[in-house]
Amino acid sequence: MNRDLSNIRKDFAQQALNENQLSNNPVHQFRFWLDEAIESNQPEPTAMTLSTVSPLGIPSARMVLLKNLDERTGFWFYTNYDSQKGNDLKHNPHAALNFFWPLLERQVRITGTVTKVSTLDSDAYFDSRPMESRIGAMASPQSQVIESREQLEGWLTEAKKGTLKRPDNWGGYSLMPTEIEFWQGRSNRLHDRIRYHLNGSEWKQERLAP
Ligand SMILES: Cc1cc2nc3c(=O)[nH]c(=O)nc-3n(C[C@H](O)[C@H](O)[C@H](O)COP(=O)(O)O)c2cc1C
Repeated sequence: MNRDLSNIRKDFAQQALNENQLSNNPVHQFRFWLDEAIESNQPEPTAMTLSTVSPLGIPSARMVLLKNLDERTGFWFYTNYDSQKGNDLKHNPHAALNFFWPLLERQVRITGTVTKVSTLDSDAYFDSRPMESRIGAMASPQSQVIESREQLEGWLTEAKKGTLKRPDNWGGYSLMPTEIEFWQGRSNRLHDRIRYHLNGSEWKQERLAP
C-alpha cells in the first residue's frame, strides 16, 4: 500500500530560541544542544549527515558519527580516505554537516572546511575501537564495487589472520566551521533560526526567516 504522504505533518511546539539565551560562541552552543540531545535519549544523537561535492560539482550526502568536538579543531569523524567522500574531500575540502534531533525539534546546519587529523590521533581512535570494527575497516575497500558478500567475507577472514593495524587509508577528518545555524521548531512553521558566521576571527549572529 502506498500511503498518502501529503498530509503527514507535525506541529513543533516545545520551545523557543531567543538570541539572549545563546552563547556567543556557536561551538559552545552546539555542545549544549548535543548534550541535551544525548540526555533526551534521542536515538543516535551524534549521527550527522555529511555533504561533500565531487570535482564535477555533484553533491553527495551520507551519515557519519561525530567522534570529537572542540573549538580549536572543530567537528571530527572517521572514515576511509579512499571512499567516495574521501575522494570528494581530496578535490574540494568544503563540506556541510546536518544534525536533526526530532525529540527536541531541533536541527543544526554547519558549513566549513575539512582537513585530515594527525596520524597519531587516527591511530589512537582506531586502537580504541572494538576488534570487529578494526578488522572491518582493514578488510573493506569502502565505496568500491565488489563482486559479492562472499568476496567481502573472504577479505575479512584474511584480515583476521594479520596484525591489527590502522590502514593508511583509514582515519579522521575534522571540519572547522565557518557557519553554524541553530533551528528550533515552532508552531505553524514559524520556526526560530539563528545563524552564526565567522567574520575574521569573530562570530556574528543573525536571525533568519523560517
Ligand atoms: C547512523 C550511521 C552512522 C554512520 N557512521 C559512519 C562513520 O562514522 N564513518 C563512515 O565511514 N561511515 C559511516 N556510516 C556509513 C556511511 O553513511 C556511508 O555508507 C559510508 O561511509 C560510505 O559513504 P561514501 O561512499 O559516500 O564515502 C554510517 C551510517 C549510518 C546510517
